[in-house]
Amino acid sequence: MRIYLIALMLVSNLLYAKEWSLSDLPLTVIDQGWGVPQRDRNLLNSELSVGKEKYTKGIASHAPGGFTLILDGGAKKFTGLVGIDDAVNGYGDVIVKFFIIINGKRELLWDSGVLKKGEKAKKFDLNLSGGTELKFEMFDNGDGSYDHLDLLEWKIEYDNKAPQAVFPPGVIETDNLMWHFEAITNRELIQKNFGSKNHFSGAKVGLLTYPARGKESFALDENLRIIQADGAHSLALVVEKVDKTTIADGIEETRFFLRDPEYPIKVEYVILSYKKEDVFKAHIEVINNGDLPIMIINRDSAFTTFEATENSYLTSFYGHWGREFLDSREDKLPAGVVKHQDRGGIQPTMNRWPGILLSLDGKAEEDSGVVFAAALAWSGAWQLKVTNMPPNQYNPKNRLFFSAGVQEDPVKLASKSRYTSPEVVMTFSNQGKGQVSRNYHAYMLRDGLYNPHLERPIILNSWEGVYFDFDEAKIINMIEQAAKLGVEMFVLDDGWFGNGDFQRNSDRAGLGDWQINSKKLPNGLNALISASEKNGIKFGLWVEPEMVNPKSNLFQTHPDWAMQIPKRERYTSRHQYVLDLSKQEVENFVYNSVANILTLYPKISYIKWDFNSSGVNFGSASAADDQGAISDKQTQSYYRIMAKLRKNFPNVMFQACASGGGRTDFGAMKFHEEFWASDQTNGLERIKIQWGYSHFYPPIAIASHIGKYGDGDFKLRVDVAMTGRLGVELSPDSINDENREIINQGINVYKKLRPILAKAELFRGSSPLTSNISDLSYIAKDKNVGVFFGFKRGKEAQLCQLKPKGLNPDFEYKVTEVNAENQARFINFNATGKELMENGISIDFPNKESSVVALIEKIK
Ligand code: DGJ
Repeated sequence: MRIYLIALMLVSNLLYAKEWSLSDLPLTVIDQGWGVPQRDRNLLNSELSVGKEKYTKGIASHAPGGFTLILDGGAKKFTGLVGIDDAVNGYGDVIVKFFIIINGKRELLWDSGVLKKGEKAKKFDLNLSGGTELKFEMFDNGDGSYDHLDLLEWKIEYDNKAPQAVFPPGVIETDNLMWHFEAITNRELIQKNFGSKNHFSGAKVGLLTYPARGKESFALDENLRIIQADGAHSLALVVEKVDKTTIADGIEETRFFLRDPEYPIKVEYVILSYKKEDVFKAHIEVINNGDLPIMIINRDSAFTTFEATENSYLTSFYGHWGREFLDSREDKLPAGVVKHQDRGGIQPTMNRWPGILLSLDGKAEEDSGVVFAAALAWSGAWQLKVTNMPPNQYNPKNRLFFSAGVQEDPVKLASKSRYTSPEVVMTFSNQGKGQVSRNYHAYMLRDGLYNPHLERPIILNSWEGVYFDFDEAKIINMIEQAAKLGVEMFVLDDGWFGNGDFQRNSDRAGLGDWQINSKKLPNGLNALISASEKNGIKFGLWVEPEMVNPKSNLFQTHPDWAMQIPKRERYTSRHQYVLDLSKQEVENFVYNSVANILTLYPKISYIKWDFNSSGVNFGSASAADDQGAISDKQTQSYYRIMAKLRKNFPNVMFQACASGGGRTDFGAMKFHEEFWASDQTNGLERIKIQWGYSHFYPPIAIASHIGKYGDGDFKLRVDVAMTGRLGVELSPDSINDENREIINQGINVYKKLRPILAKAELFRGSSPLTSNISDLSYIAKDKNVGVFFGFKRGKEAQLCQLKPKGLNPDFEYKVTEVNAENQARFINFNATGKELMENGISIDFPNKESSVVALIEKIK
């Protein structure tokens, strides 16, 4: 009986013995001196082999480094081997040590002694009983290279809870991405990998994040360049500590505290990781603890490095007035440095947009390929840089370096003060640029836009309908007509202010004089606000408060308030100057101009905040010895004004406008619900412009109005506007009854689709940049409902098979045409998601520019 029991116990022990092995260890927890850890193969991508013996199970790593396992006291036997891989090209010595923590006390458990190439792997058989932590540490024995250590056949027997690996502080993660640093106290911060967890893209060699001048990386600019108080062009940074803090649910901050061992300078490199959105947001803070000022020359907010194929492509976003994003291009990366910049500081996004896509293995496709993306959140002068180093004898692959920040312009940092850089928002996907855009959209709806979940009203804006040529009666008529169309808000654009010699009857006078024009509007804004109320719609107003016309009372009184390069003549741009916000009294004036209006007219619900100059006269007499800081000062002042207005007038929405899309960067959008994407309102052109914006912005951020100009019928214009935040930009009086009916019907349809469109994920299909047919699928996250848009820009009739994307292949859907006109584009039908995505919808486009909208609803 006793023998039976013992045998039973032995059998059950065998049956239930739990075992942890190296296969359970996530590679990302390993902190190592060089390269990326490999599973079941060595660092040179061949079979694991130590002392001429081959091993199938193990991890290839590189000293110095290590990792920690948390135990629950129930771990027992720990066995395995360690040794130097035979394939290593040189001779590197490694020492392995295991430490165990018992009751808070750290004890050395095993010391391998010096491991050398060619020797047999060294076995260990240890007892972990009672231990709460196991620390594995590998040391390079002072040589620092060729330390290719293989961890072989490691196993831990345990009772209850499996050993848990601890991520080192330099490992920053989201659900699908990781960014890996080596952050060892008193050593330089080393950047390793950036990419999807299943597709690391980091260069194999760890790179100094802040290389000290003269030490490394002669081909790269320093990410942070400082002239010390004694005149030395020198900065060397080592890690002091790393802190991790949870900022909000799913958002973690990693803060690397760095210090210069010789100079009183500290730097904090801050990275926010958005878990679900798969986004990293980085910035730096420079602290001058010295008694004298220093100069900062270069100050990149973020820096990443990639290993890539020779077939890497850079997508950059170009355009100009009325053509925002339309001159965008995707170029094969040449060797050397590619720099994108806007030195103007005013209208920073009009001619080029401060974001890029970098595809590491061929052109960026919508649904495949490895794509890194970055966007700088800054409304001043900026620069983005990509350096492509071709392969050489040491690095068989291309190495890419990306950095972004404020335009390189020397700024002074006073004693005992801190400089905070703007943020760079980055993401990555190995499933193409479509996923990159969806990550950005998710981030925008979480943190990037002001009031992301507020329902955006349908607006009629007066500009293209009447320009400056209006009076009270005209506007009240417009308000009445707008309400009849189903519009929810009327916005009075430019032309309502300025009096006497400086009436705003054209763009030549009046900016700065924010008093109501008593000739045009004798009863003030109240008459218009009451008319809007009476017609059941809200009222909004246009302002351009950062500018002044020379022909204005403001300029006559304060000529020194306009920006000016000291001692130089001033130039106008659109007959106006930019106000110098580096002067506190000017900042106060700008804030008060708008705050006074909003206080006087509390029923104003929306402000269109315009900005119509280019960056001429970029200087200030107020800080003649610190002209490099002008863009910073101007931008920070705009942010302060917006922050204060948003706080004090929480019920007012603010649109960002700058001659169209001149200020649509991620920095501005933190203070705005939406932006006016372009003065181009021709629907056919808007298809392409909005396609460009969709790389970074979700549809609700993009104000898109049915305009009076251009080709394409009214139904197409309505459908194009639905793909953004729909509005109207014409005088309803100027169109015939048929078109008014089309707009009216479109608005009603949009009101039904709006809740779906606001939350949906966007899948771009065929591109309008390469074909006259394009399509967009807006699909709810749960895949239960979606809206599909197809556009044909040619005049020939065409039968097309357009394929929605992003559906659940197993669901059955009902497909119904909505916003149809008398000629249907397809016959409504039912199909599975798979059928829809593979076979598409047969769309019969008539012989004019034309569009289709399909509602896709799950029925089973
Ligand atoms: C430029 C904007 O883009 C237009 O919509 C309009 O508001 C004008 N400015 C007014 O001057």
